Amino acid sequence: MVDRRYREGEIQALIVLGELNDPIETPNNNFYSFYPKSIKQAQAYFRRFALDLTEVFDALVRRELAYKQGDAWLLTKRGQQAARQARRRRPPIWYWYKDFYIAIENSRAFSLYCERVYGKDLSQHGFSNVDELHWMLDLVKLDETIQLLDIGCGNGRISEYISDKTLARVMGIDYIPEAIAQAKRRTANKRDRLCFQVGNIDELDSVGKRFNVILSIDSIFFGQDLTATLANLKRLLKPDGEMVFFCGEDLSTPLRQNRLACTVYSRSREHHQHLQLKRRVATGLRKDFEAEGNRFIWENIMAESLDDANSYDSANCSRPRYLYRIWTQPAN
Ligand SMILES: C[S@@+](CC[C@H](N)C(=O)[O-])C[C@H]1O[C@@H](n2cnc3c(N)ncnc32)[C@H](O)[C@@H]1O
Repeated sequence: MVDRRYREGEIQALIVLGELNDPIETPNNNFYSFYPKSIKQAQAYFRRFALDLTEVFDALVRRELAYKQGDAWLLTKRGQQAARQARRRRPPIWYWYKDFYIAIENSRAFSLYCERVYGKDLSQHGFSNVDELHWMLDLVKLDETIQLLDIGCGNGRISEYISDKTLARVMGIDYIPEAIAQAKRRTANKRDRLCFQVGNIDELDSVGKRFNVILSIDSIFFGQDLTATLANLKRLLKPDGEMVFFCGEDLSTPLRQNRLACTVYSRSREHHQHLQLKRRVATGLRKDFEAEGNRFIWENIMAESLDDANSYDSANCSRPRYLYRIWTQPAN
């Protein structure tokens, strides 16, 4: 979570000065471009959440986080550190996801899209449709004795669905406060088996309990470093527990470095069809998204779907997808 010493305006001012003076490239920037030339350009980072920073730069100077040189504000050493930390905790996509989860709470277009693409509206933003969820639930047996952690749970509707189906005790973690607030409100009467917490994949120390199953659907790669992420998750696993990740990454090196064993299932063929379906469904719903003022969601779907009517060809697969079932190797 973001350092409580700083208010939102100060966080934005730190990030702006960082972007202008010491930019860091990160993947998944969702429509934010690097190397802004002015404060105004840098504020595109915050989308509609951008605050008026007129007074805030001087506040950073008073806190010895910045200093003025001519017309420009520059970060002090302490300011640079604070800016890097704020940017790591709130990359551009954090503001995108904030916008997204607020928008979809009442979006009929997104609900229709989910029903048509995933077979059921669970506010999905990954690539697992209901068939894939059920397939996974057949592999990984869950019941009321199981404690499951869902990393990158969004607004928790998938976590809730899994718990409703299996009675497993599910904790969902996501770094978007609005998504977690929606999850908590919606499941207030299921507290005996569902709980949700705002948290960052890179800062899981506060989780405070261990799990039989750790699930992550298209979220594991958002951490800073996969080896460190797996090491941290391994610590949250009960003896004999397992991790279940859907993703497109090759995890062999981070798994080896953490002495973790796995079975890998290819989902690339299903994924190819899923990405084609996304394109077809979204194309038909463009006007619905636009009428709601949610074109940014439509653009995101179009960007990650597949504009290719050809059937799956394993030799030319550019978008692989896997399910990893992972467990701890006994020490020699
Ligand atoms: C591709 S979406 C998948 C959401 C959900 N698992 C699904 O399948 O629909 C990725 C999710 O990870 C969350 N996320 C991204 N980076 C994160 C981080 N560093 N810590 C915690 N959550 C993160 C996002 O807010 C988003 O809800």
